[in-house]
Amino acid sequence: MKPFVSVEGLAKRFPTPKGEPLTVFENVTFGVEKGEFVCIIGHSGCGKSTILNVLAGLDEASEGAVVMDGREVRGPSLERGVVFQNYSLLPWLTALQNVTFGVGARNPKWSREQVRAHAIKYLELVGLTGGAEHRKPSQLSGGMRQRVSIARAFATQPQLLLLDEPFGALDALTRGSIQDELLKIWSETHQTVFMITHDVDEAILLADRILLMTNGPFARVAESVEISIPRPRRRDEIIEHPHFYRIRNHLVHFLSRRSRGLAGRREGRPVAPETIRFEDEEPRPAPGRPRLAAVNE
Ligand SMILES: Nc1ncnc2c1ncn2[C@@H]1O[C@H](COP(=O)(O)OP(=O)(O)O)[C@@H](O)[C@H]1O
Ligand SMILES: [Mg+2]
Repeated sequence: MKPFVSVEGLAKRFPTPKGEPLTVFENVTFGVEKGEFVCIIGHSGCGKSTILNVLAGLDEASEGAVVMDGREVRGPSLERGVVFQNYSLLPWLTALQNVTFGVGARNPKWSREQVRAHAIKYLELVGLTGGAEHRKPSQLSGGMRQRVSIARAFATQPQLLLLDEPFGALDALTRGSIQDELLKIWSETHQTVFMITHDVDEAILLADRILLMTNGPFARVAESVEISIPRPRRRDEIIEHPHFYRIRNHLVHFLSRRSRGLAGRREGRPVAPETIRFEDEEPRPAPGRPRLAAVNE
């Protein structure tokens, strides 16, 4: 059976004056399961935003298709919510109105009170209360604006959330606290999320799986790294987990070396990324499991 979102042999090519088109990426093939949080990492220019925009229905691929829930994506839809790096809030509306606007459009039968209560719940989840919800975007800090964008995207409850480096423009401290808010809101909703980031620590904290892209031209998704660190995860505890540095080193090594080495190597056909999974070196018996002797007694 197909995964919830199925990306099948996607390519993006641009015409050039010389005739031979420029292939940014090709044979990009992967799936996203329902409720999964998937991050994608790769060097600037390899085509991550283009892939996200094709998933959103905002851009067209040169080859291949995206199928979501059995139907091909052909244009934008309320079933797919997008958060960009440069806050796409409506400047003439307050934070609250920015959220109710989307919630009302998505749920036309709801009463005003229902819409408002739902929007406030999501603003609270991202820590935006105490009057800030009545301010306009220009009166909010960058971090607060991005909180509103995230609240709006989650509150409209699309089937798929697409986040394009949503914290890229924020300072490290603000980014850390919004990552926490994002984890909180996601643990409530278990939405399906596809997120671009260039921050490996952020990806390990948030993702169930990280897709690694080689450099362009002819970029592709080469690996799918499973993040075998149990949830709930906390930023200050995750580094203690025995898998953390093994995963982190793998990602950093891919980005610093292998993404270039694998670049330009053409598969010629869509190939699913190789699955990378870090297991415990020595399998330990699960705590509390009865010993064999005890079972036989
Ligand atoms: N009109 C165009 N003609 C040629 N190349 C383009 C055009 N538009 C975008 N590109 C190229 O497509 C590539 C992919 O861009 P993008 O998806 O934004 O990458 P990323 O998000 O990974 O940084 C870039 O290398 C860019 O130079
Ligand atoms: Mg980009």
